[in-house]
Amino acid sequence: MNKRESKSPGKPREQWVTRIGLVLAMAGNAIGLGNFLRFPVQCATNGGGAFMIPYFIAFFLLGIPLMWIEWGVGRFGGKYGHGTTPGMFHYLWQHPMAKYLGAIGITIPFCLILYYTYIVSWTLAYSVFSFTGKYFGVHGHELMANFLSAYQGTVKNQFFNGIGTAYLFFLITFALNIWILSRGLAKGIEWLANWALPTLGVFGIILMIRVFTLGIPDPAMPANSVMNGLAFIWNPDLTALGDIKVWLAATGQVFFTLSVGFGAIQTYASYLKPKDDVALSGLATASANAFAEVIIGGSIAIPVAVAFFGLQGTQAIAKGGSFDLGFFAMPLIFQRLPLGELFGTIWFLLLFLAGITSSVAMAQPMMAFLQEEFKVERKTAAMILGVLMFFLMQPVIFFLGHGFLDEMDFWIGTFGLVVFAIIEVVLFIWVFGADKAWREIMTGADIKIPRFFLFIMKYVTLTYLVVLLGVWLAQDGLDVILMKHVLPENYIYVWFARFLLTGVLILMLVLVHIAWKRKHRIKQVVP
Ligand code: ALA
Repeated sequence: MNKRESKSPGKPREQWVTRIGLVLAMAGNAIGLGNFLRFPVQCATNGGGAFMIPYFIAFFLLGIPLMWIEWGVGRFGGKYGHGTTPGMFHYLWQHPMAKYLGAIGITIPFCLILYYTYIVSWTLAYSVFSFTGKYFGVHGHELMANFLSAYQGTVKNQFFNGIGTAYLFFLITFALNIWILSRGLAKGIEWLANWALPTLGVFGIILMIRVFTLGIPDPAMPANSVMNGLAFIWNPDLTALGDIKVWLAATGQVFFTLSVGFGAIQTYASYLKPKDDVALSGLATASANAFAEVIIGGSIAIPVAVAFFGLQGTQAIAKGGSFDLGFFAMPLIFQRLPLGELFGTIWFLLLFLAGITSSVAMAQPMMAFLQEEFKVERKTAAMILGVLMFFLMQPVIFFLGHGFLDEMDFWIGTFGLVVFAIIEVVLFIWVFGADKAWREIMTGADIKIPRFFLFIMKYVTLTYLVVLLGVWLAQDGLDVILMKHVLPENYIYVWFARFLLTGVLILMLVLVHIAWKRKHRIKQVVP
């Protein structure tokens, strides 16, 4: 590459103001709804202690190595003025295809925010409902489910007679996201992380203390206790290790919760200085996320649900779906606690803060892409992102009851992450070169990572990912592709979801193509 290429043209790129701000923002990127809603459900439906062993194995063999790889790739791209994977891959692999592979790294986070932001808006609404006591008096799991369905506008009943309330909270959440992004890295994202993450930690600890002081709510049912809930998670159960479904669930959870394979960690890391540490910071991010997930997340929803509904009851609730523990069981429990309104508000605000610090992270790649590859001003970039997001979120909101969101989540939140992770490991470790990649990660490192992690990245992580993808496709993928579990009347919506995702991917490929053509033209006129 020539000298001129290696310098970032135009305005200097934004940078993190403080190291603690960076670590909090990265932790905010990773810590999200996945930690507090998805984890307890995955853990409870996959046998508790049986889930935790593959979970930790996946965390060490995939999660941490991928975290280092993404931090390394991100800081590397930042040196060349690129905050998104098309530019990063272009410098890792000098091949015309590289930038197009990188387009996947903008497609994934952008498609994720289309549905993630909507779910975040429910948590804001429920914090208000907790505060005002709106769901107090709604008893029983089924009625709570009706409450959420009516809120989402999929049915009409005594609780809500249309989607209006949900739409209002969507607008508020959406506007907050765009406003934060339009303020930029330091004044928007870092500012948010600096207060939201500590607040989230305090909320988490308050809820943990409340849960731990519950004891046995019903003395007639001594087995229904917080202790038994904790024992369910923490007693390792080796018998389920042969069950491939548990491995798939645990690995999928590690991906989603750490935000690896998203394209979002790379963008945040691109705002580092070339000699800033990535080894310790990357490890700190993964550890903070694991702490928030298994210690805080694991000490709230499952133990409290076991205390009130028993172990079997909790597992049955979790089997109902990703939101059943957080949105049905928890509100039922708050109604039975003194100061339940307050604890309910804290729980849903915790979810909201976790969610919004992740949603802005997923939106930032698109912002960086527009700003850097098209030289669009920050505020204009936020506006373009907002318009695109707003229109593309409408089908998610209005076709929710037809499996639209679930279809997007499978392709993006499950399948897409693994595919993209394979691409980046191959490019960074195999194409760019293992030794160079290792030097990239170790430059400026504040800790010495044992070199066997390079071996893990090179062979174990990659093999694990490829096997995972194969098994996934064989087990679930084929059924999803053939729409085995979709009701015939929903086929059209599922096709529409696929059409939308393909459309976004094509749009990103075209944008990458145009951006590189323009650059080439600019280079030709610059002497
Ligand atoms: N990692 C984010 C979460 O856990 C996306 O929700």
